[in-house]
Amino acid sequence: MSNKRIPVIAGNWKMYKTIPEAIALVQELSSAVAGATGREIVICPPFTALAAVKPALAGTNIKLGAQNLNWDPQGAFTGEISAPMLKDVGCDYVIIGHSERRQYFAETDENVNRKLKAALAADLIPIVCVGESLSEREAGITSSVVSRQVKLGLAGLAPDEAKTIIIAYEPIWAIGTGRTATAEDANAMCAFIRLTVTGMFGTPVADAMRIQYGGSVKPDNVDELMSTSDIDGALVGGASLKAADFARIVNFTAK
Ligand code: PGA
Repeated sequence: MSNKRIPVIAGNWKMYKTIPEAIALVQELSSAVAGATGREIVICPPFTALAAVKPALAGTNIKLGAQNLNWDPQGAFTGEISAPMLKDVGCDYVIIGHSERRQYFAETDENVNRKLKAALAADLIPIVCVGESLSEREAGITSSVVSRQVKLGLAGLAPDEAKTIIIAYEPIWAIGTGRTATAEDANAMCAFIRLTVTGMFGTPVADAMRIQYGGSVKPDNVDELMSTSDIDGALVGGASLKAADFARIVNFTAK
């Protein structure tokens, strides 16, 4: 892990937790990570819990994020939530283009790009997810799939904007399956993403950008993942729903 980049550990709660459950999890978590320094900690509860969780995070070192947003600031889009609304409720981060959104809600790279620009315009830090499916990996097209997602997803950004975003490399076959990419493979893909970013925006942007790994990150594999050169954090699903597990991940030690 480069000492130039501050690692980010983010919990993606997906469609879990009622408001009382969310508050209970935050209370347990906040004391367990109170001593963590030199890293950013983010939780992304469902939309319905954001307003209740925000005050529960006051005085803690945990930041609030959302799991999705619409690309327009307002309008007749039934069921959607905009970037200014997320800002209004106290979010600082937003996940964009998670593979579940791409897979089940037909999100395209073009949608991701519009959402990314909307997030930046509202001063939210986007966590842009990329990653290949099992069949794409088996077909040997992982690099071309991921570079396409990065190039189309980040198209048209100014270098200063690109510098602030976070990319999460999440191979789809590793999400929720208990199958993690090896630290070596995950690091190689994060390095490849950084190279793609270098080609688009230059070395200073690529050196500054945080690139996370996601996909079955657990207490027992986080230290190894975080000991690599190009993995700057983790996007954590299942293990972020248990305070002790997520706290252990937040409190990783990199060799
Ligand atoms: P997982 O999910 O940690 O449960 O594999 C990761 C994600 O979907 O972001």
